[in-house]
Amino acid sequence: MVVKPRSRSVCVLGGTGFVGRTLVNELVRARYRVVIPTRRRQRHRDLLVFPGVELIDMDVHDERALTAVLRGADAAINLIGILNERGRDGSGFKKVHVELVAKLLSACDAAGVTRLLHMSALKAEAARAPSHYLRTKGQAEQLIRSHPRIRFTIFKPSVIFGPRDSFTNRFARLLKLTPVLPLACADSRMSPVYVDDVARAFAIALEDSHTIGRTYELCGPDIYTLDEVVHFVRDQLGLKRAIVPLPKGLGRMQAWVGEFLPGKPFSLDNFASLGVAGICGENGFAALGIEPRPMSAIVPSYLARRRPRPRV
Ligand SMILES: NC(=O)c1ccc[n+]([C@@H]2O[C@H](COP(=O)([O-])OP(=O)(O)OC[C@H]3O[C@@H](n4cnc5c(N)ncnc54)[C@H](OP(=O)(O)O)[C@@H]3O)[C@@H](O)[C@H]2O)c1
Repeated sequence: MVVKPRSRSVCVLGGTGFVGRTLVNELVRARYRVVIPTRRRQRHRDLLVFPGVELIDMDVHDERALTAVLRGADAAINLIGILNERGRDGSGFKKVHVELVAKLLSACDAAGVTRLLHMSALKAEAARAPSHYLRTKGQAEQLIRSHPRIRFTIFKPSVIFGPRDSFTNRFARLLKLTPVLPLACADSRMSPVYVDDVARAFAIALEDSHTIGRTYELCGPDIYTLDEVVHFVRDQLGLKRAIVPLPKGLGRMQAWVGEFLPGKPFSLDNFASLGVAGICGENGFAALGIEPRPMSAIVPSYLARRRPRPRV
């Protein structure tokens, strides 16, 4: 059998994260060489088991270093994003979502890379979105679309689930800890989307020039309220827990308290983001030939590991 050489190379910023790891797996199977810049190479060394993967310890905010790492790549993929910033004035979001993208575009220019796949978020919008997260994601989209040379594809997913997510798993952890779960934004609507389907969309776009210049919203097949998601998670765990939807004022207070907890598990900015429904206008999966999988087909298998063991 002749093994095809890995002649094409992709630089994946954020390749060590939840979505990144699944995408890197896809790209390796499609025989790409994958270069992943990271701030903490040591922590992600397990990724080196994949053939053709290179992890580079670097500061991605250093434009010169970015240019160097992009040299020779056939495409760049940007998955870097944060859900919360250290402070509260939006400057943390601006640094990671907008300034980094501006540097990435300049670095692509300097390195001769013209193809960019970029991860944004559903309902990101530069001017009118209600949170720093969504506004800065929207501003990055504007920068990319107005760049004269970059051949971009932008993806805007709803909330993403999968075995390593911090969505269903976070609620699973909380539900195990407490007999009563007070829930902010319980009636927020969303179309949770499977991480493997999102990664597939990126891999397809990389191969298909028809996706150049296009933006794809990505949603799962079902619409849930947050309350329904949390009930679903609870039932998968086989737990008897009360889930208590909080009125808006109390929900905001919960978000305010979350700002002061270690790791900011919930913030006022998250609260504001949840104020817009995470539902697609036009689901981009159809155009990409992907049938998105529902939570009910995937989540039970990985949450089963979290079920409390019966006492003997
Ligand atoms: N997860 C979702 O439900 C969801 C939904 C919609 C959109 N998105 C977007 O999808 C992208 C990937 O999400 P994810 O859940 O995979 O995120 P993640 O697991 O948190 O991974 C993000 C990656 O970005 C890098 N990173 C984080 N903060 C950084 C900073 N300040 N400077 C430089 N690099 C930084 C990290 O790499 P190192 O630590 O290795 O440096 C990390 O691997 C993000 O842009 C996110 O906004 C996610």
